[in-house]
Amino acid sequence: MGRQHNSFLFLFLVFTILLYNTTKAQDLRTYIIQLHPNEMDTSFYKTKLHWHLSFLEKATVLEEEEESHSARLLYSYDTAIEGFAARLNEHEAMALKSLPGVISVQMDRRYELHTTYSHKFLGLNFSPTGVWVRSKFGHGAIIGVLDTGIWPESPSFDDSGMPPVPKHWRGICQEGEGFIFSNCNRKIIGARFYSKGHRVNYPDSRDTTIPLLEYVSPRDAHGHGTHTSSTAAGSAVPGASVLGLGLGTARGVAPGAHIAVYKVCWFDGCYSSDILAGIDDAINDGVNVLSLSLGGFPTPLFEDSIAIGSFRAVERGVAVICAAGNNGPAAMSVANEAPWITTVGASTMDRRFPAIVRLGNGEMLYGESMYPGNKFSKQAEKRLDLVYESGGNQGAEYCLKGSLSRTSVQGKMVVCDRGINGRSEKGEAVREAGGAAMVLANAEINHDEDSVDVHVLPSTVIGYEEGVQLKKYINSSARPIARFIYGGTKVGRSRAPAVALFSARGPSATIPSVLKPDMIAPGVNIIAAWPVSLGPTGLQEDQRRSNFTVLSGTSMACPHVSGVAALVRSVHPEWSPAAVRSAMMTTADVADHLGKPIMDEKNKTSVFAMGAGQVNPNRSIDPGLVYDIRPEDYITHLCILGYNQVQICTITHRNTSCSGILRRNKKFNLNYPSITVNLQNLSRPVPVMVQRVLTNVGTPNSTYTVQVKSPKGVAVKVVPEKLTFLKLNDRKSFRVWFEMRKQEANDGVVDGFLVWKHSSIGRYRVRSPIAVTWTM
Ligand SMILES: *[C@@H]1O[C@H](CO)[C@@H](O)[C@H](O)[C@H]1NC(C)=O
Ligand SMILES: *[C@@H]1O[C@H](CO)[C@@H](O)[C@H](O)[C@H]1NC(C)=O
Ligand SMILES: *[C@@H]1O[C@H](CO)[C@@H](O)[C@H](O)[C@H]1NC(C)=O
Ligand SMILES: *[C@@H]1O[C@H](CO)[C@@H](O)[C@H](O)[C@H]1NC(C)=O
Ligand SMILES: *[C@@H]1O[C@H](CO)[C@@H](O)[C@H](O)[C@H]1NC(C)=O
Ligand SMILES: *[C@@H]1O[C@H](CO)[C@@H](O)[C@H](O)[C@H]1NC(C)=O
Ligand SMILES: *[C@@H]1O[C@H](CO)[C@@H](O)[C@H](O)[C@H]1NC(C)=O
Repeated sequence: MGRQHNSFLFLFLVFTILLYNTTKAQDLRTYIIQLHPNEMDTSFYKTKLHWHLSFLEKATVLEEEEESHSARLLYSYDTAIEGFAARLNEHEAMALKSLPGVISVQMDRRYELHTTYSHKFLGLNFSPTGVWVRSKFGHGAIIGVLDTGIWPESPSFDDSGMPPVPKHWRGICQEGEGFIFSNCNRKIIGARFYSKGHRVNYPDSRDTTIPLLEYVSPRDAHGHGTHTSSTAAGSAVPGASVLGLGLGTARGVAPGAHIAVYKVCWFDGCYSSDILAGIDDAINDGVNVLSLSLGGFPTPLFEDSIAIGSFRAVERGVAVICAAGNNGPAAMSVANEAPWITTVGASTMDRRFPAIVRLGNGEMLYGESMYPGNKFSKQAEKRLDLVYESGGNQGAEYCLKGSLSRTSVQGKMVVCDRGINGRSEKGEAVREAGGAAMVLANAEINHDEDSVDVHVLPSTVIGYEEGVQLKKYINSSARPIARFIYGGTKVGRSRAPAVALFSARGPSATIPSVLKPDMIAPGVNIIAAWPVSLGPTGLQEDQRRSNFTVLSGTSMACPHVSGVAALVRSVHPEWSPAAVRSAMMTTADVADHLGKPIMDEKNKTSVFAMGAGQVNPNRSIDPGLVYDIRPEDYITHLCILGYNQVQICTITHRNTSCSGILRRNKKFNLNYPSITVNLQNLSRPVPVMVQRVLTNVGTPNSTYTVQVKSPKGVAVKVVPEKLTFLKLNDRKSFRVWFEMRKQEANDGVVDGFLVWKHSSIGRYRVRSPIAVTWTM
C-alpha cells in the first residue's frame, strides 16, 4: 500500500463500525474451506460447484429466512485453491472441519495494500541494444494486477499502438457501476471485481456516511490500483507532471504489455476470500505475471492465502510478484515470503524536490516538498511566524484534525510531528485551522526519510535531527520566524539507490531458510497515474485535479518488478517463474550510481534489506545462466523444513509423503538464486554443504569460473570452480562448503556473495548473495 493511505483507509473503518447494525447474520463469519483435490466423485457431482454445495448441505443448518444452502456460498474456487468460501457459524465450521475430504477450514483474513522518471533510473531507454527494443516493450505479455481497480480514462491506459489482445486470453471485461465494456481496450484487456468477502463484513458499504464513493465495479475509487497498474505497464504520456512538478514523459516499465485488472481491495482493505477469487480467475484467464502490492504481517504459509493461491499460479507458469511490506527497518518484518513468490523491497531514486527551511537566525534545514508552489509562486516562500503547538490541545503536535487552535496558527507556518494520522491529512488540518504553511518533522524512527506528498498548502518534510534543531530554535526565540526556499526538481545530486527506511527487512520469520526480500526496486516518491476524480493527496477535501500523483511504499516497488518480469517473459515465453526470478536476481545491481555499495539508512549494506540488489531490466533478459526450480522442489523443501502432511497439502494441494521424499532426496537443496546457511555455534564447527544447479540460457560452449567473497569469519569452498556448458539448456551442478572459523561479534549475520563469470563474454556475471546466520 502507498504508505500515506493506510491511515486513510482506517479512518473510514471507524465510521462504519459505529453504524453497523446487529442482526442474526452477526454470528456468521466468512471461512475458506480447502478440500482434498482427488476426492471429488465425478460420477456423482457434475461440477465442482455441486461438490462444494454438498459440504454446506451436510454441515449447515438453514435459518428461517434463508432459502438455500447456496446463499451461504461466497465463492466456489476452481484453480487457485481447491475449495470454497462460505458464511458459517462457529459450530458449522467445526462440523465442516471433521468431514472427510476437508483439509482445512480457515477464517477469512484481511490484508492491506502495503512514473515520470523511474524507468530512466532503471536504465530503460530506446537504444537498439536495450531491453525495451529487444522485448518490443514487453509485447504481448499480460500483467494481472490485484488491487483497488483502475481509472480507465487515464491517459496512461490509452491503447494507441498496442498490439491486439493475445489469442490465448480468456478474461472478460466485467461491467458495473461507472464501468462499461468499452472501458477495456488493447491496454486494459480484462477487468473484474470481487466484493463478496468484503461486503459481508461491511454490508452497508453504500452508506452515505462513508465519505468515499466505492464503485461496485472494476473502477478505482482509491487511486492505488491505477498507480500500480500504470507503473507496471502504463503507456507513454508526454508532458506528465503532478501540478507542474517532476515534468517528463510518464511510462510504465513494460509499456507494450497488457493489463488485466482484478479489483480485490475496497475501503476496508483486501479479504483473502476475494483475493483467492481474483487469483483463481487470473490463472484461468491466462495472465503471465501477477502483481500484488498488498499483504499483511509474516504469516505461516499454510494460513496465508496469498502463499496458497500463488503456489497454484506458479505451478501453471504464472510469475507472482509481491510487495515485501512497509514495516521496516525492523528485522523479520518481511511479508509475502513464500519461496515461490518474488518478494520486492523499496529503494530510493536520485530525484529530489528540495524545500529548505530558513530560520530567522539564518540556520538552514534541509527538507523536501512536492507543493506545486515549489516551482511557481514566490508567495510560497514568504517569511512567516513559526509555531509548534505541543502542549496545546491533545494531538496538536501531530496536527490531528480539529486539534489546532485558530488563534495561535492563523497565517503561520505550523510544525507538525509525523505519526498517528496521514501526512496529507496534517496539511489539511493546518489549512482548515487557517495556517499558511506546514513543516512536517520526522519522528526518530523516520530518520531523514523523505517520502513527499502533494500537500494542500506550502509545506516541507524535514529529518528528525532537523526537527529537534527547529524546535530548539522555536523554544529559544521570542518571535520565531522562517521561510521556505524551494529548489524545484533536482536529479542526480544524491546517492541512489539506497534501501528505503520503511522497506520490510529479512530474515523471513516463517521461512528463514530463504533470503528475503529477493530484490529491491524504486519505491520512494514514484509518480504514476491517478484518478481525476480525486485530488493528488487522495483527501476528499482536496479539490485539485491531476492525472498523476506521487506515492511511496513497497507497493510502488512491486509493479516495477512485475513490469521487468513481463519484459523477460516476452523475450523468453518458455521460462518458468523461477527462471524469470533467477534472471532478475543474478543480474541485479549491488552498486549505486557512484559505484559504491547500495546502502540502507544507517549507511550499511545488508542482504536482508536489499536481497540480491536493485533489479536491472536490461541485464535481466540475458543472464547467461539460471537457477531453475520445479514446483515439486518447493514441496521437498517444505518437507525438509518439517512441515507436516496436512500443512503441505493445505499449501500445495498435493498428497505428500515426506518420509518417502526425504529418503529419495538425502542431500536436497532448494535451487534458489541466493544462498542462506545457518551455522551452529559449536566448539568444533561442522562444515555445511549447499548444492546448486545452473542451466545454460546464454550461448553454447560456455565456460564459467567462480569468484567468491566469503562472509567474515567463514571459510567458503566451491567445487568445482569451473563449469563448462556445451549446449544450450545444459545443466551443471556445484557444491559450496561453509565452515565457521571465527564467530564475528555482530548481529548474528554475515554476508558475502559468489559469482559465476563467463570466460570471454563480460556481460555474463551470475551473482548470488550469501547470508550466513548462526544459532547460539
Ligand atoms: C543492454 O545489454 C546489452 C547486453 O545484453 C548491451 O550490449 C547493451 O549495451 C545494453 N544496452 C543498454 C541501453 O544498456
Ligand atoms: C522547550 O521548552 C520546554 C519548556 O521549557 C521543554 O519542556 C522542552 O523540552 C523544550 N523543547 C525543546 C525541543 O527544546
Ligand atoms: C487528464 O488527461 C486527459 C486525457 O489526456 C485530459 O483530457 C485532461 O485534461 C487531463 N486532466 C488534468 C487535470 O490534467
Ligand atoms: C550517511 O552518509 C551520509 C553522507 O555520507 C551522511 O550525510 C549521513 O548523515 C549518514 N547517515 C547516517 C545515519 O550515518
Ligand atoms: C494420500 O497418501 C497416503 C499415503 O501415501 C494414502 O494412504 C492416502 O490414501 C492418500 N490420499 C489421497 C486422498 O490420495
Ligand atoms: C558460542 O559463541 C560464543 C562467542 O563466540 C562463545 O562464547 C560460546 O562459548 C559459544 N557457545 C557454544 C555452545 O559453543
Ligand atoms: C562447440 O565447440 C566444439 C569443439 O570446440 C565445436 O565442435 C562445436 O561446433 C561448438 N559448438 C557450437 C554451437 O559453437
